[in-house]
Amino acid sequence: MSNPLDSTTGVLGLKQIRVASCLGYLLWDKATSQALAIDPPAEAQGEFRELLQSGGLRLSVIIETHTRPDLLFCSQSLKRETGSKILRGRATLSSDADQLVSDQEKICFGSLELEALETPGHTPDSICLIFQDPKTQERLAFTGETLMMGSTGRTDLPSAHSSLLFDSLRKIESMLSPETLILPSHDKSDLLFSSLQMEQKLNPQLLEKDRQKFIDQKREESLVSRGALRREVQRVPSTTVQKYALKLDARAAGELFVDVREPDEFMLGHIPGVESIPISELALQWNRLRGAKKIYLSCQSGRRSEMVARTLDRLGIAGVVNVTGGFQAWSKAGLAVEKPRG
Ligand SMILES: [Fe+2]
Repeated sequence: MSNPLDSTTGVLGLKQIRVASCLGYLLWDKATSQALAIDPPAEAQGEFRELLQSGGLRLSVIIETHTRPDLLFCSQSLKRETGSKILRGRATLSSDADQLVSDQEKICFGSLELEALETPGHTPDSICLIFQDPKTQERLAFTGETLMMGSTGRTDLPSAHSSLLFDSLRKIESMLSPETLILPSHDKSDLLFSSLQMEQKLNPQLLEKDRQKFIDQKREESLVSRGALRREVQRVPSTTVQKYALKLDARAAGELFVDVREPDEFMLGHIPGVESIPISELALQWNRLRGAKKIYLSCQSGRRSEMVARTLDRLGIAGVVNVTGGFQAWSKAGLAVEKPRG
């Protein structure tokens, strides 16, 4: 089915929408155009609306992975606009959900489905959502604020419970394969996604297997300002646009030259010879990306591509290079630009 949002070949369409440190998701079944939203961040309503309209998608379900007193979703306004229903975990303390889901319950959108996993701890109603591709069996785990890049859900808010969170993390580890991609709803490290395997290697809170030590660690975390929590400092190799032009001319097998801007930006003009993989659907291209020998990444100014470069580098991909200054620097340097005809 032809769809302006499609740049992948699988059965699932996916967009990750970021507003500051909040991450929301729009998923859809390409065969039926039925869509589902996960944790749509406040202030992202317009972006969701645009995606639904341009893709001809029908939003039927909005899932909130937990009740968030700390942050707000735009679920209610999306519900009003689309007539979709709001789903939450059955342990929710809030009364504004239309449907509650239990552990291992399936949530359908078109011919596809997500499986809910109850993972209390950050809140009593926290759930994770698992998508398994019916053809490839690959899994994506939307982990809300239970498991994030380099951290786990905060437990200093009322109704949070670090011992329950400890059990939920063990549950995630026992039920998901290490290759499962982890797509959280919150991130303060300027990363896009991770894998369970990489979190098991790098996430100090997931690495802590002693219950009491974990509880102590979470208590200590709640005593310091959240803003002061450590961020993973990680630098990735970069190159100038002049050197990038030479690399493009001498491209070798296994090298990828990727523009991570969204399709509308790419269509206005791009570096000749690069391919478009929008940052918002990068997770769906994971298998292709991890098979590359070298990946050069550019965007408009170099900021988004750096986020992608750091994400891929952290996931263990060798040979990731960010193009400093991106398309702006390329244009400013007077290098050739490709624009669609007409
Ligand atoms: Fe939260």
